Amino acid sequence: MRLDRWLTTLGVCSRSEGKDLIRKGAVWVNAAPQRDPTALVETEKDQLRVRDQAVDGRILRHVVMHKPAGILTAARDRKQPTVMDLLPPVYGAIGCMPVGRLDKDTTGILVFTCDGELNHRLLAPGRHVDKIYEAEVTGRLGDREVQAFAAGLALSDFTAQPATLEVLEAGAETSRARVTVAEGKFHQIKRMFSATGHEVRRLHRLRFGPLTLDSELAEGAWRELTAEEVRALRQAAGMEE
Ligand code: URA
Repeated sequence: MRLDRWLTTLGVCSRSEGKDLIRKGAVWVNAAPQRDPTALVETEKDQLRVRDQAVDGRILRHVVMHKPAGILTAARDRKQPTVMDLLPPVYGAIGCMPVGRLDKDTTGILVFTCDGELNHRLLAPGRHVDKIYEAEVTGRLGDREVQAFAAGLALSDFTAQPATLEVLEAGAETSRARVTVAEGKFHQIKRMFSATGHEVRRLHRLRFGPLTLDSELAEGAWRELTAEEVRALRQAAGMEE
């Protein structure tokens, strides 16, 4: 990538400001000023300094977040806060986007990536990437629901693939359960429970493919994925042996 484009991709400045900064010698690559805006850089390796400040120049990043309730999963929204608002602006600038969606009131693990192909493949219908949710629902859950989930529930516009329902607590008023699904259709878990006569009161995602939500990650907190986690995700997406 060209140096001037690197600066704009990172959201450091506009293209024309970048050219100015570069020509003035205010942009250093690997400990030396680089005065040529067209010089080619290696974004994941080269060390960048702008106006004597180190800038993290990586444009291929992957994030895991503990999504809190009350926040939309969207790139942006005119009125409501989105998950992107919980990340520093550079992540939006480099195109780090959520993989799939969690409803506004759902909490739990949400993965972001700048890799469009990885994002797309993880969501592809034919790719069975398991997601595990913990749900609190109205009414008593029992064998009837376990069997209905296992058989594949007929919903209004599609039949859900067989899913595993494990009842954790069954009460007359509310029950708690763990659900494993490979699909990720809109409101899927809520609709599956609704089809068996239960309303979801709380929904939390514990696992996305090979990644489990870390217990140290508080609601609203996030971190970058490790190289090992990225490899596991790429493997789940069929992009790595
Ligand atoms: N299923 C739902 O109903 N909601 C979510 O947020 C995720 C899965």
